[in-house]
Amino acid sequence: MSLETEKMDLPPRPALLDFHGVSMTNYFIDNWKNIQEFEARPDDVVIASYPKAGNTWVSYILDLLYFSQTSPGRQYSVPLFERVPFLEIHMPGYPSGVDELNRFASSPRIIKTHLPVQFLPPSFWKQNTKIIYVARNPKDTAVSYFHFDRMNQAQPEPGDWNSYFQRFMEGKMVFGSWYEHVKGWWEEKKARSNILYLFYEDLIEDFDRELSRLCSFLGQSPSAELKKQITEKVLFDNMKHNKLVNASSDEYLDFTISPFIRKGKVGDWRNMFSAKQDEEFNEHYKSKMQTTDLHFRTAL
Ligand code: A3P
Repeated sequence: MSLETEKMDLPPRPALLDFHGVSMTNYFIDNWKNIQEFEARPDDVVIASYPKAGNTWVSYILDLLYFSQTSPGRQYSVPLFERVPFLEIHMPGYPSGVDELNRFASSPRIIKTHLPVQFLPPSFWKQNTKIIYVARNPKDTAVSYFHFDRMNQAQPEPGDWNSYFQRFMEGKMVFGSWYEHVKGWWEEKKARSNILYLFYEDLIEDFDRELSRLCSFLGQSPSAELKKQITEKVLFDNMKHNKLVNASSDEYLDFTISPFIRKGKVGDWRNMFSAKQDEEFNEHYKSKMQTTDLHFRTAL
């Protein structure tokens, strides 16, 4: 796809559907057979997350780690969403994620997914593919997702914040319940050494430490110079103004409503949650998370 394409006529926003107990839209299930039969390669690297947890940030880190020295050209000519294809996406006007990945010649393939753990194509488990799961606290995730759904014409109508807030707690969001998503991957991680579980809040708190964890999990030993370049390039402001990573060529996104790379903060939820909503959410969170040892930070 060229960055210079004519504006296309967008289809109406999709409806939310129940798919094996998980809320989805047709854009992520229409290609289901091909998704489930997707053939992983042993050196693939998957970045999995619930939407709005920082998948783009980690995608760019990995793209720079693997390709900024061997294929510097791709940094200046190919949008990040083409360098790191979105496995399950299948929507009008774009090649499907599966087709893009099957055509990929460069290796490793860096693959984005928002699938809950039970939906991951079995081939990834057979190949013991390295998977990085990125998780973010639910309050900031909900707020980020709300603004994203406002600007993304490929998502169902978000409605107002009050109704969105209720639906987030009920799990009536594309890719289902945040709770089930983060807990499902957390439990899987305990059983498998090929999953690294990263937290958005940790990346914000100490980027160097988390970059080192990431590299050691991937078996990569970048030079100090490369680490420095990555750290600089993935700074929030640099990503926000980088046209090839800020999704500005995605036709479905309306940047007059909200930016895609928006605030990049821990604690922005305070600008949206009323005191009453905060109380209600804390109670709900407690009931949903009481049986897990997974913990999130909503402030640093
Ligand atoms: P906000 O909407 O809170 O700003 P995803 O890529 O999974 O869709 O996640 C998007 C969220 O990650 C957005 O959060 C976005 O601004 C944030 N983000 C993207 N790049 C970032 C960076 N370099 N540093 C911090 N946050 C970043």
